[in-house]
Amino acid sequence: MRLAINIDHVATIRQARGGNEPDPVTAAQLCELAGAEGIVCHLREDRRHIHDRDVRLLRETVKTKLDLEMAATEEIIRIAIEVKPELVTLVPEKRKELTTESGIDVVGQKKYLEDVIKTFHQQKILVSLFVDPLQAQVEASKEIGTDMIELHTGEYAEARTDRARNEELVKIQQMARLGKQLGLGVNGGHGLSYVNVSPIAAITDIDELSIGHAVISRAVLVGIERAVREMLQLVQRR
Ligand code: PXP
Repeated sequence: MRLAINIDHVATIRQARGGNEPDPVTAAQLCELAGAEGIVCHLREDRRHIHDRDVRLLRETVKTKLDLEMAATEEIIRIAIEVKPELVTLVPEKRKELTTESGIDVVGQKKYLEDVIKTFHQQKILVSLFVDPLQAQVEASKEIGTDMIELHTGEYAEARTDRARNEELVKIQQMARLGKQLGLGVNGGHGLSYVNVSPIAAITDIDELSIGHAVISRAVLVGIERAVREMLQLVQRR
């Protein structure tokens, strides 16, 4: 199980004063030194945290793997093609959301997403689709040629009862298995924390977890290297 760290919220703190500190590029280097095997950032249309400059500098400095999370819009596709991350993860984006609220509707926009995937493949950029753990979405993802899926773990993370959480866990287990049977890479992420990550980390069909808010929150208190190492221990204990 690999751990990729999403550094968006380092940029959120920077945004609080509009200056240049803390720098998400420095944070990414420290995450890698602590053992993270990938760096994720989301260049949003509204540029609410990560800026274009961050993505360009991350491209130059990240030594593991850069995963650019993005909406499949013309402007961001153009930037991604210039920057050439190893991986793009396509997500839906709404102006007023606090964070990504659901998976991308692959079933509803198959043709468009198929063309976007082809465009990235021509540039030798791998594509992951962030999807809800639903059979129709996983199968449609395979049909349109994605390399990987990232299973949305947000419903699992936000479940209020053990029963609801277990139901979500089973869906994620089943869809991870299906993804693997279809020959896809399978990642997971959203809302994962030091408290809830272990059952997800135990799913052997998942290759990588993408975790941001929990790690950056802990980093404010204990330092980013320790926060990453502590999460790595949980993720790799399966
Ligand atoms: N994966 C995707 C596709 C996301 O949109 C996010 C949030 O930016 C994450 C993972 C990380 O979620 P969190 O910050 O809750 O760990």
